[in-house]
Amino acid sequence: MEKVEERNQTPIVEFILLGFGNGPELQPLLSLVFLAIYFVTVAGNLLIIVLVVADRHLHIPMYYFVGNLSVLEICYTSAILPRLLASLLTGDRTVSVKSCIVQIYLFGTISASECLLLTAISYDRYLAICHPLHYAVLMNGQVCAWLVAGCWISGFLGCTIVNIFMSQLQFCGSQEIDHFFCDFSPTIKLSCDDTRTLELVTFIIAALGALVPCLLTLVSYVCIITAILRISSNIGRQKAFSTCSSHLTVVTIYYGTLITIYVFPTANAPAILNKLFSVFYTVLNPMINPIIYCLRNKEVNESLRKAVMKLSAFRQRHRM
Ligand SMILES: *[C@@H]1O[C@H](CO)[C@@H](O)[C@H](O)[C@H]1NC(C)=O
Repeated sequence: MEKVEERNQTPIVEFILLGFGNGPELQPLLSLVFLAIYFVTVAGNLLIIVLVVADRHLHIPMYYFVGNLSVLEICYTSAILPRLLASLLTGDRTVSVKSCIVQIYLFGTISASECLLLTAISYDRYLAICHPLHYAVLMNGQVCAWLVAGCWISGFLGCTIVNIFMSQLQFCGSQEIDHFFCDFSPTIKLSCDDTRTLELVTFIIAALGALVPCLLTLVSYVCIITAILRISSNIGRQKAFSTCSSHLTVVTIYYGTLITIYVFPTANAPAILNKLFSVFYTVLNPMINPIIYCLRNKEVNESLRKAVMKLSAFRQRHRM
């Protein structure tokens, strides 16, 4: 039977997140998979943070950025996965409108800051490779701290503006969100208020906050790659490339998934495809980053090897 929409009547206070459907045989498997992913993500990023903080060789701007990126990644998955896990384990799929808006707010702030931080990382690599003689002057601990703070603050401000508009919305009619977390567009679709202003403001902020960093990142990497290709010695070229290949991989994966989701029209795509892509950028991306840094970045790799050796020496000494 069709549900009759009763506008301006009792506003909805709870949503139902449909998640991955309600096949009971699938829930234990999904819980296990997401629990494992969450564990690996938090452990991997914590490892990076510990290495960056503890190893003096990594006390340079580039790794401060990487350490801060790991902090963001932990916050990012923590804004989504624990709630999803709880609902998979308990079978309770309701979420209050308030906590839904809080989730959108957290998720938005963290992704905006991450996008800006990735730009800062590309800028750092650009200075190191294209202006090596001025690098020490242009990028020092203080500049780095300002850039990191700037990323956090602008991400926070942008999302606060959107959130002020969002918190005034009333919801009525359908309660069901066909997603596994409160994403922006599926949620505001359920509002019975006029959302045009909100959408316009969000579009402007998102365009400034995502497009501009994306273009800056692209320009930095074009400069970097042309500079690397101009290096005449093979060894020099390899050395320059090795310092930025891991960032390049991370940035490519990040923007690749973002563009796939937001640029290609997915309105007509089946919901399951949409969810699958969302899993990729909300759940898998944060897990992949530490793996890339540990495996592909020589200095992090070296630092990890030393830490493992120290640890095993320590354990041997205690066994004797
Ligand atoms: C984050 O950046 C700040 C400023 O550069 C730095 O002091 C701090 O150590 C970084 N945090 C991590 C975990 O790397």
